[in-house]
Amino acid sequence: MSATAAAVSFLPFHRAMIGDDEVRAVTEVLESGWLTTGPRAKKFEAAFAACVGAENAIAVGSCTAALHLALAAINLQPGDEVILPTMTFASTGEVILYTGAKPVLVDCASGSYHMDAAQIERHITPKTRAIIPVHYSGYASELDHVVQIARRHNLTVIEDAAHSFPSSFKGTPIGTIGDITCFSFYATKTITTGEGGMITTQNDALADRMRILSMHGISRDAWKRYTAEGTWRYDIQDIGYKYNLTDLQAAIGLVQFEKREHMRRLRVALADRYTRELNSFEGFLTPVIPDHVEHAWHLYVIQVDDDFLSISRDRIIEELKDRGIGTSVHFIPLHLHSLYQNRLGYHEGMFPNAEARFASSISLPLFPGMKEIEQSRVIQVLCDIARQHRR
Ligand SMILES: Cc1ncc(COP(=O)(O)O)c(C=O)c1O
Repeated sequence: MSATAAAVSFLPFHRAMIGDDEVRAVTEVLESGWLTTGPRAKKFEAAFAACVGAENAIAVGSCTAALHLALAAINLQPGDEVILPTMTFASTGEVILYTGAKPVLVDCASGSYHMDAAQIERHITPKTRAIIPVHYSGYASELDHVVQIARRHNLTVIEDAAHSFPSSFKGTPIGTIGDITCFSFYATKTITTGEGGMITTQNDALADRMRILSMHGISRDAWKRYTAEGTWRYDIQDIGYKYNLTDLQAAIGLVQFEKREHMRRLRVALADRYTRELNSFEGFLTPVIPDHVEHAWHLYVIQVDDDFLSISRDRIIEELKDRGIGTSVHFIPLHLHSLYQNRLGYHEGMFPNAEARFASSISLPLFPGMKEIEQSRVIQVLCDIARQHRR
């Protein structure tokens, strides 16, 4: 690290907004003597379901677990196919591979990080069972088209909403539009439980099945077995998983949930400032968001504009790091990874829109507790880079 970076403290890509309330909530759980799934997880589920208008919410250990349970609940079988964007995180694809089914990748729409809905139908075969749209960065794009296509072909829509709480699409909160919606409460997400996730669905039968599968496939929740409400007898009905959310995590989640709109407003203000200031000079393209969505602003992703800058995306990330600023890249498209190339025959060149987006993208620090002076530093360094490397 250069002397400049050492002189100022490192600005991380993300810092969770955790206060005394979360600490108190966790302490209460520890003092209660009931640490695993119990009353707090139930309360968290009820609050979340009411917030998005869902009939059912199931708290789980991660969004990855949520996506896996969704596929297990529809009985995805080896040989089945599931359509998803190549522009996503490992989880969205690996859960399909867990079941022996085949991930079928789709390119980004031109000028977008979202899956090109117009290309979905071309990838549907008699083996297709589901579509997983990913609400990249914190909002859903063309979700109505995806749902229409799914209805026409009798497919299940499983929304990967890892980035998108709270957000809405054409006035409807994300969480009830597809058949199943999966949220993440990972450490860097818009609300966090350290690790955690939530599944929402209007379908009671799918909800019951996912709840049972999230707890070893047994007929009743473990927490009920050990309380006055439960009995010791249980039945293993299916091959299940250990995917429950603990009360320790749910206690943090409940506090974060109450702060959701406050934290979203802080992120909106930061995103607006990035857009305003980065558009005041040439070198970086800022996100263009459709009017019909409410954005959760999990990520603020800029693109390096090669028409104006002679420096590569990778070098810019290095310079930002040297000057004490953490960034990330979302995502290396799935088809560029060796697993997808070796096992499924994907290769570079297949999805030009996703590749172009990947090659030019930088995710800037954006978190609700980010100070004005910290954001000014990011903007200043980008401005310096743009000035020094103008074509
Ligand atoms: C698009 C997407 N889907 C799923 C996940 C998985 O979330 P989790 O870490 O809660 O399993 C992530 C995590 O970053 C993600 O970005």
